[in-house]
Amino acid sequence: MSTASFPEGFEWGVSTSAFQIEGATNIDGRGPSIWDTFSVDRVETCDHYHRYPEDVRLMRELDLGSYRFSMSWPRIFPDGGGEPNAAGLDFYDRLVDELVGAGIKPYATLYHWDLPQALEDRGGWPSRDTALRFADYAAAVHQRLGDRVRTWFTLNEPWVAAFLGHGAGIHAPGRTSAAEAFAAAHHMLLGHGLAVRALREAGAAEVGVVLNISPVMTPAQVSDPGRRASEEDAAAVARIDTLVNRQFLEPVLRGAYPEELLPVIERHGGLGHVHDGDLEIIGQPIDLLGVNYYAPLVVQAQPSEPADPAYPGSDGVLFCTVPTAVTAMGWPIVPGCLSQLLGRLTREYPGLELMITENGADFVDVVTGDGIHDVDRISFIEEHLRALRAALDAGANVRGYLAWTLLDNLEWVDGYQRKFGLVHVDFATQRRRLKDSALWYRDVVRRNGLAETPPKRPTLETVAARAGVSRATVSRVVNGESSVSPEVRTTVMRAVNELGYVPNLAARSLVTRRTNAVALVLSVPRQGGGDALTAAVVQYVTSLLEGAGKQITLMLADTAESHRRIVAHVEARLADGVVLLPPDRADTLAERLSRTGVPVVLLGKPEIASLVPYVDVDNAGGAAAATEHLLERGRRRVGMVCGPMDLVTVQDRLAGHRAALRRAGLQPHLAPADDLTRAAGADAMRRLLADDPALDAVFAATDQLAIGAMRALREAGRRVPDDVAVVGFDDIDAASATTPALTTVRVPVADQALALARLLLSRLEGRHTTSVVLPARLVVRGSA
Ligand code: FCB
Repeated sequence: MSTASFPEGFEWGVSTSAFQIEGATNIDGRGPSIWDTFSVDRVETCDHYHRYPEDVRLMRELDLGSYRFSMSWPRIFPDGGGEPNAAGLDFYDRLVDELVGAGIKPYATLYHWDLPQALEDRGGWPSRDTALRFADYAAAVHQRLGDRVRTWFTLNEPWVAAFLGHGAGIHAPGRTSAAEAFAAAHHMLLGHGLAVRALREAGAAEVGVVLNISPVMTPAQVSDPGRRASEEDAAAVARIDTLVNRQFLEPVLRGAYPEELLPVIERHGGLGHVHDGDLEIIGQPIDLLGVNYYAPLVVQAQPSEPADPAYPGSDGVLFCTVPTAVTAMGWPIVPGCLSQLLGRLTREYPGLELMITENGADFVDVVTGDGIHDVDRISFIEEHLRALRAALDAGANVRGYLAWTLLDNLEWVDGYQRKFGLVHVDFATQRRRLKDSALWYRDVVRRNGLAETPPKRPTLETVAARAGVSRATVSRVVNGESSVSPEVRTTVMRAVNELGYVPNLAARSLVTRRTNAVALVLSVPRQGGGDALTAAVVQYVTSLLEGAGKQITLMLADTAESHRRIVAHVEARLADGVVLLPPDRADTLAERLSRTGVPVVLLGKPEIASLVPYVDVDNAGGAAAATEHLLERGRRRVGMVCGPMDLVTVQDRLAGHRAALRRAGLQPHLAPADDLTRAAGADAMRRLLADDPALDAVFAATDQLAIGAMRALREAGRRVPDDVAVVGFDDIDAASATTPALTTVRVPVADQALALARLLLSRLEGRHTTSVVLPARLVVRGSA
């Protein structure tokens, strides 16, 4: 077997979960789940319930052989018990038939976090009875589907459901009690054991469970896994490993809790919920362990650190960020950890068969006329597959790899802003489009492995051959020379695009002897909504400027050292112009660059008044329109969730809001948020309500803040818009996905990017230029 190919019969597929894709939450007798109650986003999501034939067809087109999906418990038991709902079972019956008909092997997960709300109302997972109901549910589903579904996974990631749902309160059902979290975890495990027993008795061929296994390490071990940790750090690592990994692995695979865990549970509410005999039930043999891997957990000892509520007993442990590449989720990308964790499982549980049941990444996607070129997602999966291949070589017994996930979907609390799909979904039309990663994955599946060598980068010669012209002609076109006829230019540019050719210096100078380079300088990180805008700018600025014959040098401005390097680069005239995406907060890079005499254009109004021209949107005008809308609808007690006051956009939006209130003779009522996250929005909203319980409207400086505010309003029992109207700003996608949909101020993303490129071109041509301020338009929806 070559290093890139996988063992014969290795299974390739994707995973999904019911709540995240099905939609159709209140038809055919389905009852509400805890996620319907908890989520502020619209739950129609991908409407897979109706579109499953199309989705199965997509999988078929991608040549996928295996598919892991979950069943929605409240579709089968809307009230948590009694007789199963036949219409709910019918859906999975149709789905399984469709899969089998398409030659795709179904892997069913019984619990992917959507507990029937009726069971939550009777105590939920902290109550022992839920485990018994789970076994009934497993038996009912098996009775209907067991003739076609061979492999059953009981739970998906019980750590997340127990500890984020009951400890940290950031997942449904939103409880915040360490004692309840440990009890929930135990009852999930008990439910697993009871379901294994019920499934086996009913004749199920294979039964397993899916765990999220995160290798835990110190910051230094991320790049150097062999590095020895200090005694204190090693103890911190061991503690978190026990809570996240061993708490679940050992009861299931060895029939016992780790010794060190018992006193921790004892301290948090006691061990009364662990009955004699439970661990024998939990520890019945399984056939297959599903492993979900995304990122490691990085920790070190820090005596003053209080416990993180998601990890009760973690006092004295600091969770660290590490300077590695991250996905848009902020999760570090460390593929080597996948080999490590497979190696560990193989060592500690010899003979256990494993399957990668989830692995994938959220990145910002840009839909262009010719597709979605999600190169980051491709390289994420490719690197993880290489790591998996290495683990197989080292002896791990892994049956297959299921990518997370088929479709962009509803990513739990993060809503629709997260994009994990191989297939893009337009949530307004439900149109599905294959991303490049889907097509790439299809090739992996077809050759049962990775390409032997990475494809060669296309050269000037390849472009010339494809377009049927000389090398010099290609060079003239990429240099924007006017001597080339429009037809030839079109042919060459088509070849350039199809091949993904990036012209190098030699090609640039073959005819003109000029570099013609432009520096695109990105500051990282940028706050709220910054990702989508940055992605659009990179995409559009690059294509417009490249179309005009410029070569783009992408430069990252994140440290003082990088600022020096960028200024030196421009001073040395290695760039004829600069497009700068400045950081959110005041900084001097724009001024330093403009002093070099090279034309510079900026995205966003700079904090420090400057002569450098910029492109921005009319933040004050948009905020005034939003506020006036609330006043026109008769709202009088209008609060504002503000965002950090040192952000220029926030200052401008505040100014517009104030001006509109002043014109109506009203006083502002503000609550600043610490950052632009939903959590900060919820926090600020709670303060506004505490100050003025009769508040009837709120304007939030961003849509993410507004979504947080909606959550806090819901917690406080206020209806939107009946009691309190809400308006946000600038994230039209997120705003379209809430229930009710958010009234928002739309910021033109592509237009800003295009204006920026045009502004620089005018400056390069020596024309006089002034800053461009684009209109921001109010989009009225259900929330106000
Ligand atoms: C896993 C979940 C899955 C999805 C991915 C991103 O923890 O099982 O539903 O949210 O993370």
